[in-house]
Amino acid sequence: MNEPLLPILIVPDAMLRRKARPVAEGDADKVRDLAPRMLASMYAAPGIGLAAPQVGELLRLVVVDLGKDETEREPMVLVNPEIVARSAETAIREEGCLSLPGQYADVERPARVKIRWQELDGTKRETEADGLLATCLQHEVDHLDGVLFVDHISALKRNMLLRKLAKEQKLKARD
Ligand code: NI
Repeated sequence: MNEPLLPILIVPDAMLRRKARPVAEGDADKVRDLAPRMLASMYAAPGIGLAAPQVGELLRLVVVDLGKDETEREPMVLVNPEIVARSAETAIREEGCLSLPGQYADVERPARVKIRWQELDGTKRETEADGLLATCLQHEVDHLDGVLFVDHISALKRNMLLRKLAKEQKLKARD
């Protein structure tokens, strides 16, 4: 794929706090164009998940790939993903985000989720996820509602992390 990579928006870009709208039939061409470009941009970053609002598109579209490396890609494209069930049991996992580069924190979320989505051709899918996939899918679906992983940690930790990010971005802009 030789298309230019999509720039990934960084916190505090206001776009990251907006709610994305469902993908409709009229969006089919746009989404078919956008999904591979999102995957390419995610691989280049590199990252394991990317939601459309992170590239400035307020559509309910997510790409994820938990494949081992570039020799074992396992791309998932989720149109209108919806978490329909969550386990009472929770799990804590360290999360990061391409919109908060270099920032990581332990986040507690339901350990298992049931998720429904459509594929690019409209096929309806449903699966139960646990482990890293469960964390990743919840993180990405959050993006569609303007929610970031730092919203799940204490205000004290969040403010520290956001200050550190702002400082690092300022230094980067100066380079
Ligand atoms: Ni993220």
